[in-house]
Amino acid sequence: MQLRIVLFGAPGSGKGTQAKKLVEAHGIPQISTGDLLRAAVAAGNELGNRAKAAMDAGELVADEVVIGMIHERLNAPDAVDGFILDGFPRSLPQARALDELLESLERPLHRVIHLEVENEEIVQRLLARGRADDHEDTIRNRLQVFDRQTQPLIEYYQQQNKFVAVAGSGELDQIHARIEAELLAP
Ligand code: AP5
Repeated sequence: MQLRIVLFGAPGSGKGTQAKKLVEAHGIPQISTGDLLRAAVAAGNELGNRAKAAMDAGELVADEVVIGMIHERLNAPDAVDGFILDGFPRSLPQARALDELLESLERPLHRVIHLEVENEEIVQRLLARGRADDHEDTIRNRLQVFDRQTQPLIEYYQQQNKFVAVAGSGELDQIHARIEAELLAP
């Protein structure tokens, strides 16, 4: 079965962690705009230089930058049989651009899975992780950016009947099982 899914959720909700479990279970690639952007920053290329200030501040990188990256990545051969989008889309223009692209490829999304976790648990998880953008002020700003710019996608995907919410707290394998159950649902 081909799977084309979006893992949706606040920063630190476990998108990357659960994406890796889905990669193992289904053999399809994880496509993380955060990872792609961090690789560009590390490479010091023009795209990375454009993205760095926004990432350091916990703001979203410009839509046209991430849409361009996703366009290229979804056209790669390994994405033909399915994919797990992790951290994209994060704004309405990104969601609309994704729909247009997938429509042109005749590969529509199956599900958008929201990993729901309380904000205070998220702050504790990210402080413990300690990535470059995991300082308390930046984490709280990322959470506000999620509320402001990314939450509207819930209604967008509910209208398409693709949106499901999964409790994102607890044991990793239990959360994975909840996601798999949603993927099997008709
Ligand atoms: P990105 O890399 O996507 O970061 P994020 O959304 O802030 O997500 P995180 O990686 O912090 O969290 P996650 O949900 O993947 O959780 P994880 O599994 O790592 O984006 C970084 C930046 O890039 C953005 O701020 C923005 O500037 C830019 N960007 C990226 N995409 C963009 C886009 N589409 N548009 C514009 N800008 C974009 O888990 C977090 C921690 O919790 C880990 O330590 C993990 O071990 C732990 N953990 C996971 N699950 C559990 C659990 N069940 N119990 C306890 N701990 C857990």
